[in-house]
Amino acid sequence: MHQLSRASVLFVCLGNICRSPLAEAAFRAEVSKAGIAVRIDSCGTAGYHVGSPPDPRSIETAAANGIDISGLKGRQLAPQDFIEFDYIFAMDHQNLRDIKAVQPDHATAHVSLLMDIVPGREGAAIADPYYDGEGQFTYTWEDVTLAARALVQKLSAAQ
Ligand code: 4NP
Repeated sequence: MHQLSRASVLFVCLGNICRSPLAEAAFRAEVSKAGIAVRIDSCGTAGYHVGSPPDPRSIETAAANGIDISGLKGRQLAPQDFIEFDYIFAMDHQNLRDIKAVQPDHATAHVSLLMDIVPGREGAAIADPYYDGEGQFTYTWEDVTLAARALVQKLSAAQ
């Protein structure tokens, strides 16, 4: 496929072990189905889980949907992310505030709430499943999959 440029997308939550690895996984799956080329990564606003694999419940949820995320390693949002990525998506409103609080003046990335790209779900948060049961991770997966599909449509239209 001939492409002039490859879009780049970064998913951001608090710890980079629950929601953003699932958003990354769902988006990788949809991107691969659509056959488009996109650079994809995820990170956390906090540094609690730097170097750690995703939460076992996230690994299990992704695996149940055919995607192996066991090799991902947590990392924290860094200033260069605002230059290196075209789009930075926050999972919830606190993530969005925390991202904007460290956004450098020379940032070029578009920063927004992930669910803003899903028609009818604008302004909604991807609820933090960390303190909830395994069932909550299924809802997380459903939401990130809706967002992944909407984002693939948007990027496909642009390519
Ligand atoms: P995430 O979930 O932001 O979706 O990765 C959390 C992970 C860890 C913590 C909180 C939320 N924590 O407090 O350690």
